Amino acid sequence: MDASLARLRERVQSARRIVVLTGAGMSAESGIPTFRDALSGLWARFDPAQLASEPGFRADPKRVWSWYAERRAGVRAAQPNAGHLALGDFARRHPGRLTVVTQNVDDLHQRAGNTDAIRLHGDILQDHWLEPCPRRGGPACEPGRATPGEPPSCGDCGNLLRPGVVWFGEDLPASALQQAESAVAAAQLMLVVGTSGAVWPAAGLAGLARQGGAWVVILNPDATEIDDDAHEWLRGTAATLLPVLFG
Ligand code: OAD
Repeated sequence: MDASLARLRERVQSARRIVVLTGAGMSAESGIPTFRDALSGLWARFDPAQLASEPGFRADPKRVWSWYAERRAGVRAAQPNAGHLALGDFARRHPGRLTVVTQNVDDLHQRAGNTDAIRLHGDILQDHWLEPCPRRGGPACEPGRATPGEPPSCGDCGNLLRPGVVWFGEDLPASALQQAESAVAAAQLMLVVGTSGAVWPAAGLAGLARQGGAWVVILNPDATEIDDDAHEWLRGTAATLLPVLFG
């Protein structure tokens, strides 16, 4: 085993609290595309302003709904890879030592056993209403008859269901961010896996961990925007490195 990998494995074994922050690269080896990889990333082919923002959804709900339906099908068909499984297995063997904080909207960490993984950017398999229910004090909106390929709408007021992910211009769920910050503050070791570090506030968690005294390591085949926040970098993929570190 490579010496830096062996040293990091020792850190994993000895740290009382570990945070693993994951991004799209975590699920790449499960066949789910990343966002910013030059050729295969979703944002190389699709416009996030049209497909990942509330104005984009309002302008063309059908188009956005269909795009998410396709991504949902991809998530349902995907399986956790060796990296997800290594983290899930470690959490089972060492209760209370590992917190997974993810930017991913798939459910692969949960299916691998990290059932309490903190989701910063929501859940693509869930929906919620676009507007608060307009009938204050009354029952919540009810989906009316759904037209295939279109977002279900409320039979009474026309409110639309939308995918349960955080879009550009929206705040992260406050409780998830608070939980992530608390976990980071208590950690001795933080691994940042498969994220470009381009999206805040998630990207800021690495610097926060370092300020709080944690040893910060980036696991990624490429350089990231937050490399300067880390003490070291291992260039490799999630499914190859994590089983060695956590196995
Ligand atoms: P990006 O697409 O920005 O970055 C993916 C990172 O994964 C890159 O740094 C790649 O080098 C790395 N990578 C690729 N394959 C890998 C592998 N097999 N193992 C490890 N790393 C690999 O994705 P995120 O950083 O997650 O927002 O993007 C952050 C947010 O931007 C996403 O959560 C999404 C997007 O808009 C929402 O969905 C709200």
